[in-house]
Amino acid sequence: MAVKTIEWKKDRVIMLDQRLLPHREVYRVCRDYNQVAAAIRQMVIRGAPAIGVAAAYGIALGMQKSKADGTRQFAVEFTKLGDLMAGTRPTAVNLFWAIDKMKKAFATGIQAGESVAELKARLDAEAQKIHDDDVASCQTMGRFGAEVVPDIPGGARILTHCNAGALATAGYGTALGVIRAAAERGKVLSVFADETRPFMQGARLTAWELTKDNIPTTVITESMAGPLMRDGKIDFVVVGADRIAANGDFANKIGTYTVAMMAKAHGVPFYVAAPLSTIDMKTPDGAAIPIEERNRREVTHVGSTQLAPDAASVWNPAFDVTPHALLSGIITERGICRAPFDQSLRALFD
Ligand code: MRU
Repeated sequence: MAVKTIEWKKDRVIMLDQRLLPHREVYRVCRDYNQVAAAIRQMVIRGAPAIGVAAAYGIALGMQKSKADGTRQFAVEFTKLGDLMAGTRPTAVNLFWAIDKMKKAFATGIQAGESVAELKARLDAEAQKIHDDDVASCQTMGRFGAEVVPDIPGGARILTHCNAGALATAGYGTALGVIRAAAERGKVLSVFADETRPFMQGARLTAWELTKDNIPTTVITESMAGPLMRDGKIDFVVVGADRIAANGDFANKIGTYTVAMMAKAHGVPFYVAAPLSTIDMKTPDGAAIPIEERNRREVTHVGSTQLAPDAASVWNPAFDVTPHALLSGIITERGICRAPFDQSLRALFD
């Protein structure tokens, strides 16, 4: 897809405002780190790998503009910036992974006795590398994932949830990367995109991305996925992830768990596609993953139209946890992990 999700221009970070899609393609220019942090919080940019890249650029941008005349003051500012970025969203571990990468690059520079100017150059290069590596990982995941899409005459009918595409990453996508790669090999008949209440990433973003790539796409509400599977109209499910725990349980957009249960009940292969930056070996299982709760307005309103009465309470968790027992496999840039996931995931890092 030709559209750039995020771009680094050394003195500014440019992001496609995903809140306005598919109606308007508006690029936001962040000229300071506070604007980058606000963009992540307000979901101008969203999706686990994409917010990791945004946080890295936010740090690089903030440090680029630092007026510190010595490394001591520079280090104080760097710590403050890392903390700010870490407070933007809690569930996607890619955010913390990217901040950690920046911290390690900074520590290496300090140990080497680098000047403020050299540290700035190092942070700039590290953020750019995080971006480039994510694109490469998505493309490799696509190749591995395309292999497990069933070979069906005329192509497979694939269901996905939320948006795990170029918009949710630095480019190409995780789950949509698999779909793109499979489509390039002639293995895809059509894609069913769950609309993904309440933020509508499926209807607004996934359908936008896939139709731009001329991949036949049908938008459905979440409640329609079960009957489609029962009627034998879905051959394969692939979704992204915001955090995969050490035992294979994973957090993804609210509604993923229900899709996984349906897939299990109807014998449909259910895969998650995610880079190693999404795997959190320090989190033992799904119960330990922090789940972001978002504001009530996302549920009570559609656009500016209020649907639910003010007096009603609202529960709005942004993510749910799917237990590893429902998974057919985890597609990564190092290959496909199978059960027992605690062992296959561990082997990725050995
Ligand atoms: O709240 P969002 O839109 O940031 O949630 C995004 C998702 O849940 C995606 O499915 C996930 O990050 C995988 S993206 C490659």
